[in-house]
Amino acid sequence: MTVYAIIGGTGLTQLEGLSLKDAIELDTPYGAPSAAIQRGEFAGREVLFLARHGHPHRFPPHQVNYRANLWALKQAGAEAILAVNAVGGIHAAMGSGHLCVPHQIVDYTWGREHTYFAGDIEHVTHIDFSHPYDEALRLKLIAALQALGYAYSSHGVYAATQGPRLETVAEVAKLERDGCDIIGMTGMPEAALARELDLPYACLSLVVNPAAGKSSGIITMAEIEQALHEGIGKVREVLGRVLVS
Ligand code: HPA
Repeated sequence: MTVYAIIGGTGLTQLEGLSLKDAIELDTPYGAPSAAIQRGEFAGREVLFLARHGHPHRFPPHQVNYRANLWALKQAGAEAILAVNAVGGIHAAMGSGHLCVPHQIVDYTWGREHTYFAGDIEHVTHIDFSHPYDEALRLKLIAALQALGYAYSSHGVYAATQGPRLETVAEVAKLERDGCDIIGMTGMPEAALARELDLPYACLSLVVNPAAGKSSGIITMAEIEQALHEGIGKVREVLGRVLVS
């Protein structure tokens, strides 16, 4: 059986319902991952869990050591990755609480350590990234969402922005013109690094606010926290359903 790893984002630094067996402390050639990898049973199945921002939350999106995180998960035995990301909604369908299983990415991040193919290597490898997410994993997430009856979108273009600040109204308008549906700060380089390590990877995005300019007011942390609080239970249920599928 495939060993799944869940990468929890903001609002999911701990996987409630995980009966912990051990915490795996690993170092990697790229430094330490954000936290110890938790191994345990969730929905009756052995899984690995890593808090992307550390536990407690301490690494902002641009300072997460994505290379160490993915490397450590692979070392710990992960064979497929389910990533959870909180996002802002651009498309009209992406209101707070909506769940999206993106199918494409546009990467606007900069200055992050974004590849394992760097330094003194004999061959630069250009991974194919036409379809950044693993389709079989995406379909599992979609089937779980369908079965649970939650409002969701089976497709979406994820704009990965640098953060940690949120965007301006003009930036969101540009992302929309670029064809993006949701915005998050952690989708890249995570997805590409997973591909470099040959780890199937898919993302479950929870919309926690309308993006800048998509509502009448400004975006507040209170609003984001409230949406996370309300939505994270749904995320856990979807993950549980995927694991038993
Ligand atoms: N923009 C970028 N990242 C985010 C947002 C947003 O509006 N909301 C949650 N993560």
